[in-house]
Amino acid sequence: MVVNIEDAGFEIRDQIQWIYGSGFPKSHNIGKSVDKLLGNEREVIDKVFPDGSKPRETQQLKIYNDNDKYIGAPKYTKGNSDYEGWGTALKPANEPICLARKPLSEKTVAENVIKYSTGGINIDGCRIGFSDDEDKKNFINDSDGINRQKNSKVRETYMNNTNIIGNHNINDNRQDGRWPSNIIFDEEAAKLLDEQSGNSSRFFYQAKVSKTERNISINTNNHPTVKPINLMTYLCRLITPKGGVVLDPFMGSGSSGISACLEGFKFIGMEMDEDYFKIAQARINNFEQYRKLLK
Ligand SMILES: C[S@@+](CC[C@H](N)C(=O)[O-])C[C@H]1O[C@@H](n2cnc3c(N)ncnc32)[C@H](O)[C@@H]1O
Repeated sequence: MVVNIEDAGFEIRDQIQWIYGSGFPKSHNIGKSVDKLLGNEREVIDKVFPDGSKPRETQQLKIYNDNDKYIGAPKYTKGNSDYEGWGTALKPANEPICLARKPLSEKTVAENVIKYSTGGINIDGCRIGFSDDEDKKNFINDSDGINRQKNSKVRETYMNNTNIIGNHNINDNRQDGRWPSNIIFDEEAAKLLDEQSGNSSRFFYQAKVSKTERNISINTNNHPTVKPINLMTYLCRLITPKGGVVLDPFMGSGSSGISACLEGFKFIGMEMDEDYFKIAQARINNFEQYRKLLK
């Protein structure tokens, strides 16, 4: 996708990594297939969880025959070929988000935003809020801020970019939260970092979309890849100028449209599948019902 965006003439500016802990690997069991091809018998084993417990009937997948008659739970088997335990895919834990920009037509970004309003990133509008007063105090006392930057050139750039005047006068903007970064975590991934450093609050958090969120304002949203409204709102706000237009050429069930409306932007969406288009229309018409999802 990124190669195609670049081939279409955009500059690739960054790649945001949305890191999550809830993915399931869609992997082919090579050992099982090898045994089938070679006619090897496989030993039926009891499935045991790491804590030693066994799955209850309700936790097991159910197998039905061609007449939809339940014929039992699947058997867990183990083979002995050299390929036992081999698969074809890793567990997905990362969704890349491409940040691209149309090449500037003017000489500088400032000239470009004056002419077209676009080309910049809304840093202050997307700062990552502090988890509590203590976190804010630590940040302002420079635990992860300017005083840690020993290199004077880095300090100077930092001070220029954040409008800091002098060594310790920090302008109000900086107290709004941390600079938005190119990492987004879900809570599970953040917990791992938190346990190690206690510092995960410096990133934006977003879990994958829940069933409840998926079906707000509509009975069944059966689109396979619905995006969370809170995430899309953040991404729209990151690059869209005040009163600007968000264009989604692959709208699906319309999460970007809901998010654009919640942020007060205009929205143009395109979707090739008529059923998804209708779902998107219905959801976007009721965008106000989604405001409660914003964090
Ligand atoms: C990844 S989904 C978008 C999901 C969306 N973000 C949501 O939250 O529901 C991409 C959508 O693009 C649509 N699509 C793919 N190619 C298209 C095309 N050439 N023109 C219009 N829509 C297209 C697909 O039907 C699919 O619904």
